[in-house]
Amino acid sequence: MSSFATLARFSDPVRIVLVGAGAMGANWAKVIHETAETRLAGVVDITAGAADKLLTALKIEDVPTRTSLADFESFGLDYDAVINVTVPEAHKAVITEGLQRGKAVLSEKPLAPTVTEAWSLAAVAAVSGTLLMTSQSRRYFRGLTAFKRSVKALGPVGILTNDFFKAPHFGGFREAMADPLLVDMGIHPFDAARFILDDEPVSVYCESFNPSWSWYDGDAAATALFTFSTGSRFRYTGSWCSPGSETSWNGSWRASSEAGTVLWDGEGPPTSTDTTVPELDPLEREEISGALDEFVRALRTGAEPSGIADRNLMSLAMVEAAVTSNRRGELVHLIDILTAARDEAILATTNKAERSWLAGALPAR
Ligand SMILES: NC(=O)c1ccc[n+]([C@@H]2O[C@H](COP(=O)([O-])OP(=O)(O)OC[C@H]3O[C@@H](n4cnc5c(N)ncnc54)[C@H](O)[C@@H]3O)[C@@H](O)[C@H]2O)c1
Repeated sequence: MSSFATLARFSDPVRIVLVGAGAMGANWAKVIHETAETRLAGVVDITAGAADKLLTALKIEDVPTRTSLADFESFGLDYDAVINVTVPEAHKAVITEGLQRGKAVLSEKPLAPTVTEAWSLAAVAAVSGTLLMTSQSRRYFRGLTAFKRSVKALGPVGILTNDFFKAPHFGGFREAMADPLLVDMGIHPFDAARFILDDEPVSVYCESFNPSWSWYDGDAAATALFTFSTGSRFRYTGSWCSPGSETSWNGSWRASSEAGTVLWDGEGPPTSTDTTVPELDPLEREEISGALDEFVRALRTGAEPSGIADRNLMSLAMVEAAVTSNRRGELVHLIDILTAARDEAILATTNKAERSWLAGALPAR
């Protein structure tokens, strides 16, 4: 169980500095601004003018902007927490700076580009007693919550599947990445599988490839089979270059148990002929609003959020294990990925307390 500073140190509403004023930063600024429990205390972006441009586009006034957190503080501006929405390569530096300034941090996924960096960040957070949470926004869907409850009602899961077929033309970095589907998108269903099953994966076999007509440089299609600790299997098949009869962005889910099956199309309510499916809760906020609510609740109560860094790094490890399995052409054990990354993180720090925390850290549950 992690422990971190709670309400006593945080004002009401929680004052948040948004770092990263790009496409996703605009969504975050709007949500922080419109949420009663939070206040947008500032916007930071390394590119001069980007933060002002974002605020002007959203018609949000009287919010200070800077090009660094250091600059923000040197003007005597105070705040409680940082929301990091920078590009993944900048996550480690931005998150570390926020934590070292004593601020709770909510970061966009992925926590870091590698599991090693994610371990380092988890260690900085744990040693400083400051909350670091990843916003894994696809955990927060009313349909997903209802799907999970229905699945639980049917008892242990034999096979959980997710099928994801879309054909987006993003342009930009995704089309140039080595493993765009697994690295940029796969983390969502992998993380959701852990949430649905309330269990952790132990191994994976994965094959990824790039269909001949793909407009991506790297592999845009993959199938991965994970074995979880209780024996459940999770089979993911996805493609980013499959036009026609596309699935939702959450993909199409099926959970098969001894007592029956539950289906979820990733958009509406789940369906089952074998169990009662609960009503969707209209008060449950979805996507990044849901992540923000869990973050604020954690700061107020000390309740450990599902995306706390040292647990969320297992979702990142699932991605790294799947990519490794494809490269090696063999089954990969999650413990090997987690241990090797943890050992590298120990070597990467000179901070004694962080080394000691890492040495004693169990790889998730
Ligand atoms: N949850 C989701 O569904 C979802 C969707 C899209 C993006 N994302 C995530 O959001 C993050 C941002 O993605 P995006 O599409 O907005 O990227 P983007 O390139 O549009 O914006 C990133 C911004 O960060 C700024 N930046 C870079 N380094 C910085 C630093 N050191 N300090 C301050 N600012 C810095 C850039 O100038 C840019 O304005 C990524 O981690 C991405 O994976 C999540």
